[in-house]
Amino acid sequence: MAELLEREGSGYVDSAYGKNVYAPVDRELSVPVAAGAGSVPKDLNGIFVQATPNPAYVPGPGHSWFDGDGMVQSVEIIDGKAHYRNRWVQTKGLMEDREAGRATYVGSLAKMKAGKRHKNTANTDLVWHAGRLLALWWEGGEPYELLLPTLDTVGTYDYGATLDIGMTSHCKVDPKTGELFFIAWGTRAPYLTVGVASDDGRITRKVPIDLPGPRIQHDLGLSDQSIAVFDFPLGIDVEREGSALGFKMVEQPSRIGLVSRDPSD
Ligand SMILES: [Fe+2]
Repeated sequence: MAELLEREGSGYVDSAYGKNVYAPVDRELSVPVAAGAGSVPKDLNGIFVQATPNPAYVPGPGHSWFDGDGMVQSVEIIDGKAHYRNRWVQTKGLMEDREAGRATYVGSLAKMKAGKRHKNTANTDLVWHAGRLLALWWEGGEPYELLLPTLDTVGTYDYGATLDIGMTSHCKVDPKTGELFFIAWGTRAPYLTVGVASDDGRITRKVPIDLPGPRIQHDLGLSDQSIAVFDFPLGIDVEREGSALGFKMVEQPSRIGLVSRDPSD
C-alpha cells in the first residue's frame, strides 16, 4: 500500500493532504500499547473507537480531506492493558478500488463529469445503535456495520430492510428510549427527511421536510419533545459546471424547524 501512496509523479505526497499530520496511514495494525507513564487503572475497561478519512490509494482528481476511505481506530482497555487496532471500513467503493488496484472515484472537489463520484466512504462518524456499531458518511447512504473489538466490516446495515433513504452522519440516540434520530438529504424533493429508528432495529418513522430547494445538511438537534432541523442558506448548485462541492449561497434567512417527537401532534 505504501508504494501506491508514494507513486512517482502522483504529486499526492507533496499535496496538502498527503503529508505531515494529513499523511494517510498505510497499514492496518493490531498491537498492544504500553502506558506512556504510570499504569492503566485495573477497573477501567472498555473500547474507544473513532472514524477517520484515510485514502487507501493515491486519490483521484478533486480530492479533499473529506474524501478519504473510512478507517476506524480503537484503543481497547481490559484489566489494565491497552490494545490498539485500525481497520479500513470495507465499503463497496473501496472494494471497487481494490479490484482495480487504484482509486476509481473522483473527489468532492472534482469538476462535474470528471469521473465516478459520491463514494460512500463511511468515514465521518460512528454510532452505537440497535446493538451494532455503525459507520456513517456525511452525505448519507447506507450505514456500515462493524464488529467489536476486531473492527471487521460485516457489510451495510439497512435496519431489516426498513431503511430506504440512507442515513447522514451525526445521528442522535436518545439514551432514555434507545431511539435513533437521523436525517437524509439530497438534490431531489423531498430535500430533507427526518427518520426515527427503534432500538430493536426498525425504521419507525419518516417525516419529509418541506424545503424550497436542496441544502447541504450535516446535523440535527434533539430534545425530549422535538427534533430540530435546519434550513440554512448553504445550497447545492445542481446545474454546476465547476467544482467546490457545488456550494451555492441561497438568498434567504436561516430557519430552524421543530418536528414533534409525538407522531400524533
Ligand atoms: Fe461532521
